[in-house]
Amino acid sequence: MSFLSLQGKTFCVEKVNLASLAQKFKTPLYVYSKASLIDQYLNLKSSFSRRPPLICYALKANSNFSLCRVFKEMGAGAEVVSGGELRQALRVGVSPSKILFSGVGKTRDEICFGIKRKILAFNVESFEELKALEKIAAQMRLRASVSVRINFPIKAKTHPHTVTSGDLSKFGVNEKEALLMYEWARNSKWLKIMGLHCHLGSQVFSSKPYLQAAHLAKNFIRQLAMRKISLSFVDMGGGFGVGDEKIDFSGIAGAYLKAFKEWPALGLILEPGRFLVAESGILLTRIVHVKAGGKRKFLIVDAGMNDFLRPALYGARHPLVLIERKSRKEEIFDVAGPVCESADFFARDLSLSAPKPGELLGVLNAGAYGFSMSSQYNFRPRAAEVLVQGKTARLIRRRETFADLIRSEA
Ligand code: LLP
Repeated sequence: MSFLSLQGKTFCVEKVNLASLAQKFKTPLYVYSKASLIDQYLNLKSSFSRRPPLICYALKANSNFSLCRVFKEMGAGAEVVSGGELRQALRVGVSPSKILFSGVGKTRDEICFGIKRKILAFNVESFEELKALEKIAAQMRLRASVSVRINFPIKAKTHPHTVTSGDLSKFGVNEKEALLMYEWARNSKWLKIMGLHCHLGSQVFSSKPYLQAAHLAKNFIRQLAMRKISLSFVDMGGGFGVGDEKIDFSGIAGAYLKAFKEWPALGLILEPGRFLVAESGILLTRIVHVKAGGKRKFLIVDAGMNDFLRPALYGARHPLVLIERKSRKEEIFDVAGPVCESADFFARDLSLSAPKPGELLGVLNAGAYGFSMSSQYNFRPRAAEVLVQGKTARLIRRRETFADLIRSEA
């Protein structure tokens, strides 16, 4: 995370000292760097500048208003997967003409709302959904814009939970089914064919599956053209990995350029979530106890799997740093949260300079699928979020309280 730096003996995000933030806002605390958000967006945009895409930020990665607003102001659209995300994108000010709605189980209410607001397209995930969508559109006497999510036979190397292609996947349809759907949609006066959608998986580092998808999408669009079906855009999804490895955008951009050159007017859409926000975020947590009586030494911290689920759910490894440098002997620790679950760990066998209770740890690359996947499990109020810009830090979500936990009980 390039916006994290050691200044003196303490880590800072941009120009703000993390120890003082933790003091002021308490822990667990999510801290984001605005400069990082902007940088990642511009980095992606410039990588694809020879065929400029519409970047539809996938809100599921982090749907905080203030973060989404940064991308909206730079011209981004949104990819949403629920009525809640759709409303949040609209609230942020994203034009409906830049909003895509994916998901295998959109409800009637969600579909009605999307049609009414005239979103750019529904990413349709089954023939059954296409028919339901048409029926609703006909009842509303409004046209619905559609893009079919194709599940190309491509294997993207990632955690089994984040693979979204292949026969076992619930997402999208195969090419044969997709062709039938486009032909059926063409004959409906309530459906408007807009695009082709695919998304291979998440946290993908290899460019190979993207190159294969570009090739298959090109062949598919040719098949549509032979049937006199034309598209406004091709949506190649998101999934770009974040971590030690770096993804080769120039290879992917080159493949898209080549694959779609015979259709210069065809719009290109990308749907990144993680790439835009992961590195911008750090989760601050305080050490409650150093538990050393047994065979292993545990650092028990005040953030748990309810605050940050990725290590427990995917075995994800996020770097952990001591926020204030101390020159002490390194020792090996397991870092665990307070939640009543054996999976509630952030790291195993981590070498740290013998931290003491009360000291701060930072979980890095926590900006994506961190807060957005957090819960109130164990009746724990959810963390606060802060956005840093230069020397200033702004609270962008207050910490929940006990009153929030019981608010909806009847
Ligand atoms: N578009 C579609 C249709 C998707 O299903 C997803 C992610 C994205 C875009 C954005 O993918 P990204 O660029 O963020 O990889 N909770 C998991 C990730 C689940 C992603 C699901 N779909 C994690 O923490 O790794």
